Amino acid sequence: MLSDAYGREVTDIRISVTKRCNFGCVYCHDEGLGPVDRPRTPHGEEMTALEIERLVRVAREFGIRSVKFTGGEPLVRLDLEEIVGRTVREIPDVSLTTNGSMLEGRAEGLRDAGLKRVNVSVDSIDPEQFRSIRKGSLAPVLRGIRESLRVGLKPVKLNMVVFRPTLANIPRMVEYVGETDGLKLQLIQFMPELVTHPEWMVDIQSVKRWLEEHATRVLVREMHHRRIYVFREAEVEVVDPVFNPEFCSHCHRIRVTHRGELKGCLNRNDDLVATRGLDDDGLRSAFRQVVATRVPYYGGYVTDFPPRTPAPEPTPGATTRISA
Ligand code: 5AD
Ligand code: SF4
Repeated sequence: MLSDAYGREVTDIRISVTKRCNFGCVYCHDEGLGPVDRPRTPHGEEMTALEIERLVRVAREFGIRSVKFTGGEPLVRLDLEEIVGRTVREIPDVSLTTNGSMLEGRAEGLRDAGLKRVNVSVDSIDPEQFRSIRKGSLAPVLRGIRESLRVGLKPVKLNMVVFRPTLANIPRMVEYVGETDGLKLQLIQFMPELVTHPEWMVDIQSVKRWLEEHATRVLVREMHHRRIYVFREAEVEVVDPVFNPEFCSHCHRIRVTHRGELKGCLNRNDDLVATRGLDDDGLRSAFRQVVATRVPYYGGYVTDFPPRTPAPEPTPGATTRISA
């Protein structure tokens, strides 16, 4: 097991398989890698399935227990099934974060390849608002979610970015996940650091207070000490990293860019460790190096955004409109 200088063990790896995406979410933090590419742009930089397999094999040697594939949009890669198949042979707990737009036709094949779960980004179940935020259609995403449930990729976690335009959707989204067995909701605090628009931030504490008042139980997960609010038929998890020392001090995750660089923190790009062309021993050293330089973020790397005291915010239920 690898631990950093702050005693944080690394148990989890998040691998970007592409920078390409067919959506254009207004809030996209691009996994910290700079603007997403259009889906048909040349993709010579992307790691091959074999390169990913080797990274995962070494990650497993270090006791890493779960893998999450991300993008861009991972499903623009037509060999994702092969990547998943090669990964699960090393580390069985493999999941995927997707925009869901291409999931309907791929869910079964991914399940057959060994995928365990999916996270699908859904910020609104109103088609018009969905389009205004994501620049894509809601209907195929909902079909992809249903198909994932049908083939047993459970639970399907719906990722909802909580920012001004979506704040009012929370009660409806909680209700929505409660209506369907196998769905969970992740409320992800809008992270302004890599996106600008600090004015889109909302007071996540007021969201947590609302959840606390309405939930039947509150649990705390080890990863990031995230709160889970249990409603009768639904689980709602809050991911609130912004200026949150508790979140960062319980972060057990490292990342890999689509180019195969190891990355110690979403918000940092000055700690990237290239791995392409290294032999196995070189790759092991690269893992040790990136973990050795991991520092909890705490809001400390970026000084311009956001303001430390966000302006007073509307409470959930109030109507807000997107301004950009
Ligand atoms: N703040 C919070 N979450 C974000 N995501 C993308 N950009 C941001 C941001 N600025 C989330 C989306 C997607 C996941 C990959 O990252 O919800 O599900
Ligand atoms: Fe960014 Fe994901 Fe939206 Fe694509 S779907 S634009 S990668 S947040």
